[in-house]
Amino acid sequence: MGPLSKDEVMTDSEEKTKDLGQALGAALAPGDIISLTGDLGAGKTRFAQGLAAGLGVDGPVTSPTFTIMKVYEGRLPLYHFDVYRIQKIAELEAIGYEEYFFGDGATVIEWGDKIAQILPRDHLRLEIHRDLNRIEQRLFIVEAFGERSRELAKILAQAA
Ligand SMILES: Nc1ncnc2c1ncn2[C@@H]1O[C@H](COP(=O)(O)OP(=O)(O)OP(=O)(O)O)[C@@H](O)[C@H]1O
Ligand SMILES: [Mg+2]
Repeated sequence: MGPLSKDEVMTDSEEKTKDLGQALGAALAPGDIISLTGDLGAGKTRFAQGLAAGLGVDGPVTSPTFTIMKVYEGRLPLYHFDVYRIQKIAELEAIGYEEYFFGDGATVIEWGDKIAQILPRDHLRLEIHRDLNRIEQRLFIVEAFGERSRELAKILAQAA
């Protein structure tokens, strides 16, 4: 089944990408799942840093590439996954991903398409594209796969 909604949002700087993430972060609730896809350097981590800021997380947010997942404490926990190096879903089962996806916090997953088969149906998928001619421009394709994520998509559209 395809998405319930599909929108496009553009940013023209790293700061604007963080601002976009921050606007969404301010609205996140337990159980929300944000899946980020896009090439190396697309801006997935920048966006996740914005989410953390919007959740009131203090301190640096770095990519959890080598640890698969990091927890940041804000207004509610942010579970920040980076599944770039995952070979098998069993690696996620080993860290008990369901405790996070269905837990007390919100989840953001860099390279989420790699684990599409275990993502809850109602998730927000952001596909980030670069423009070779405009090095600071990023196009976000925003797809909502359920009612809750459609609400989140509206927040992103309003923030842009
Ligand atoms: N509009 C923009 N939004 C986000 N980042 C931008 C933008 N314009 C330029 N950049 C630059 O692009 C890079 C994005 O890096 P980031 O670590 O967020 O990418 P990533 O998608 O997480 O990559 P990786 O797959 O390696 O984890 C940064 O160097 C940032 O300064
Ligand atoms: Mg990253």
